[in-house]
Amino acid sequence: MALRSTIRQPDPVAGAKILGLGSSQPDRIVTNDELAQRVETNDEWIRSRVGIAERRFASAEDSVVSMGADAGSKALADAGLSPTDLDAVVVATCTMPTPIPNAAAQMADRIGVNGIGAMDVNAACAGFCYGTGIAADMIRSGTARHVLVVGSEKLSDWLDMDDRSVCIIFADGAGAAVLGPAETPEDVGVGPVAWGAAGDLVSTIGIDEKNYLRQEGQAVFRWATTKIAPIAMEALDKAGLTPADVDVLVPHQANLRIVEAIAKKLRQHGAREDLVVADDIVHSGNTSSASIPMAIDHMRGAGRVRSGDVALIVGFGAGLSYGGQVVVLP
Ligand code: UT7
Repeated sequence: MALRSTIRQPDPVAGAKILGLGSSQPDRIVTNDELAQRVETNDEWIRSRVGIAERRFASAEDSVVSMGADAGSKALADAGLSPTDLDAVVVATCTMPTPIPNAAAQMADRIGVNGIGAMDVNAACAGFCYGTGIAADMIRSGTARHVLVVGSEKLSDWLDMDDRSVCIIFADGAGAAVLGPAETPEDVGVGPVAWGAAGDLVSTIGIDEKNYLRQEGQAVFRWATTKIAPIAMEALDKAGLTPADVDVLVPHQANLRIVEAIAKKLRQHGAREDLVVADDIVHSGNTSSASIPMAIDHMRGAGRVRSGDVALIVGFGAGLSYGGQVVVLP
């Protein structure tokens, strides 16, 4: 018979909050005109149908790991923490060159810490919200005090540059957030995650036999413009908030028309007229799991959002996967 009848658990805290943010983009700017030299497209079509003016493509030296480590280091500095203050790294990515080794262990090492929990989460463009949900629960339960959540993607490795329906959309970059404990309920800055998956629609986005990303654009567009606003509303409801409480809306930057459709639905449900809506896709393209933290970091840098603002984040993409939550900006 066992000598112990109970198994000790870590001491829980009230919840989690974001302590710092950072982002990283490769240097090379790719304009719509540059892409129009390769495929049959034009600046006007891309701006009006997708909302992108330019995007960044990584060099051969840039990787999911290097861009993520750069964003993560900046987020740590923003939080006023050292690498050794971290207990875990959670990396949302779907563009590692191989399934193993994962990105998180290498990223932690590059940032300057070993011996901490390190895992990748693949929920495609919903990955940052999944990672944030996992990290917040790790902190709330007492498993970890400080967790770095990174969204990092090198989508250019997976693009058929002769397929105009995808090569004009996707791009490279990373965004990161450091989460830490909130000791009191008033201090909690990450709401419960509202998430799910639609595996019945798996065939709409994927990687083909030539390792190229393909998507049924119209089908995903219809799905995103009908199903994602209700998920955002569910995340608000789970946090005990209403659309009027939201200062900043940050949907995954897949297409500016999808972003605007989600914002319109939120306004129909009482969001304020002064709601700030992320439009980072204009200059960053669609960077999958990186798009949400990168958009927030860029909006902070531009002075469009403030510390203490209530942000509603919601990601969606291949899987199909979706998820979102309320976060208070650091
Ligand atoms: O991040 C993961 C989640 N992904 C998404 O949320 C993506 C959702 N889908 C979309 O954002 C849009 O469907 C796209 C941006 C992918 C495409 O926009 P669309 O307005 O749905 O265009 P479409 O696919 O219906 O194509 C309309 C026309 C077609 O020509 P025809 O058949 O009408 O002659 C396309 O061949 O536009 C053509 N087209 C282009 N024309 C110029 C497709 N790509 C291009 C292009 N330049 N790059």
